[in-house]
Amino acid sequence: MEGGGGTPPEILEESQAGCSLPTGLGANGLKKSSWGFFLTGIVGGTLVAVYAVATPFLTPALRKICLPFVPATTKQIANVVKMLHCRRGSLVDIGSGDGRVVIAAAKEGFTAVGYELNPWLVWYSRYRAWREGVQDSAKFYISDLWKVTFSQYTNVVVFGVPQMMPQLEEKLELELKDDARVIACRFPFPRWTPDHVTGEGVDTVWAYDLSTLRGRRP
Ligand SMILES: C[S@@+](CC[C@H](N)C(=O)[O-])C[C@H]1O[C@@H](n2cnc3c(N)ncnc32)[C@H](O)[C@@H]1O
Repeated sequence: MEGGGGTPPEILEESQAGCSLPTGLGANGLKKSSWGFFLTGIVGGTLVAVYAVATPFLTPALRKICLPFVPATTKQIANVVKMLHCRRGSLVDIGSGDGRVVIAAAKEGFTAVGYELNPWLVWYSRYRAWREGVQDSAKFYISDLWKVTFSQYTNVVVFGVPQMMPQLEEKLELELKDDARVIACRFPFPRWTPDHVTGEGVDTVWAYDLSTLRGRRP
């Protein structure tokens, strides 16, 4: 009977062909789902980036000796430079952070090198050195300080933590030559007697001459 009940012809055609789109994937649904992919990509990408940047800053806390990134103060650097007065040659900053000590030393005429575990800090240090025009005399390497031999350096700077000082003291005593000077910032070495001390509080700096420690004249 015409005009009776039943399915309208256009709907019947679609469902008979067996290829009707699910309601969620209509024009509107497609728009919504591409926004979904886009947002997921943005959130996912941001999380990966945050993880990649944060991990090198957080992993020192998981090491046996936790040596976090704490930059030297302006006064501390001035005290280091004071201890370098009348010295020359090569200089190394052990755990060079954002490169400020190495750059300050390069500006004083030293051939200065920094070893640093955190790659972001090393790349940033290189950028800073370039910006300050000392990229030829200030070099930075991504390295674990315990795997580097320091024998070639005549000036050694370290801003460490108390837990690492006994082990570092032994390492430097074995490796350094008689004409070397070691400058410790904030925390002194436990056994060595300093030749000079300057500054106060957190800016205190101690200088140790290997020749004195060994009872030899340079
Ligand atoms: C206290 S901060 C001193 C930074 C810089 N020397 C200054 O005075 O501004 C110590 C630095 O040592 C780095 N560090 C920690 N463990 C290290 C390791 N095993 N080898 C090399 N660098 C390390 C940290 O990432 C941090 O930047």
